[in-house]
Amino acid sequence: MDLKILPDHQSVIAYAAQLIIESIIANPKIVLGTATGRTMDDLYKLLSRAHTVDKIDFSAVSTFNLDEFIGLAPEDTNSYRHYMNQNLFKNTNIKIANTFLPNGIAPDLDREAQAYEAKIRTHGGIDLQILGIGENGHIGFNEPGSALDSRTRPAQIAPETVAQIAPLFGNETLVPRRAITIGIATILDAKRIVLLATGPNKTRILAQTITGPVSTTVPASALQKHPNCLIIADKAAARELQAA
Ligand code: GLP
Repeated sequence: MDLKILPDHQSVIAYAAQLIIESIIANPKIVLGTATGRTMDDLYKLLSRAHTVDKIDFSAVSTFNLDEFIGLAPEDTNSYRHYMNQNLFKNTNIKIANTFLPNGIAPDLDREAQAYEAKIRTHGGIDLQILGIGENGHIGFNEPGSALDSRTRPAQIAPETVAQIAPLFGNETLVPRRAITIGIATILDAKRIVLLATGPNKTRILAQTITGPVSTTVPASALQKHPNCLIIADKAAARELQAA
């Protein structure tokens, strides 16, 4: 695990955006593992800008998102499909047919999950997986307790995560309790992983992720097993690491 500590949120985002842009230039057919969450908002602004201003070409790029809420249709404004369309896809020349998220309203969710996992494989796997981190250490919707060898599946969203994302829905009762998420083993299959953590809310969990034992209690700690994983953190999120 490599760790890069930068002064603030914006410098973390700028560093990550540059890394992604260079990866696209080096491999225009790159398969990106994409994430959602507030940390990603500014990242997608910079990637959108890279297309409109710097003419970075997304036409051969494919994306696989980490997860989607069960019960939300793609058109639902709270779905991750909607989030991706609005924040990134519509601002670039990416082909929508090359952008993938699990279908949260599939009639057979287990089958949908297995098909999603298979689709990642037929695309040659994920070249560069972008991750955020939940305050409880979740990656995607692999909540504490998720098996380290888990694959794409329907999963329960932890109550503390429901509370954290409630503001985005306006009301906790509106937050779905389940999602289809790619598994921890699926994430670890990515050739390269970049995790972004910013702000004081991530301080405790980032220290546990990097310096704690690999354990299902902190799903992100599984990243310690990956040979090419970079964590980019701002000073606030890395505070306990610097002190160590
Ligand atoms: C959600 C997503 C995660 C993301 C996490 C952190 O739960 N499923 O993939 O990492 O939120 O979100 P934020 O960036 O808003 O802190």
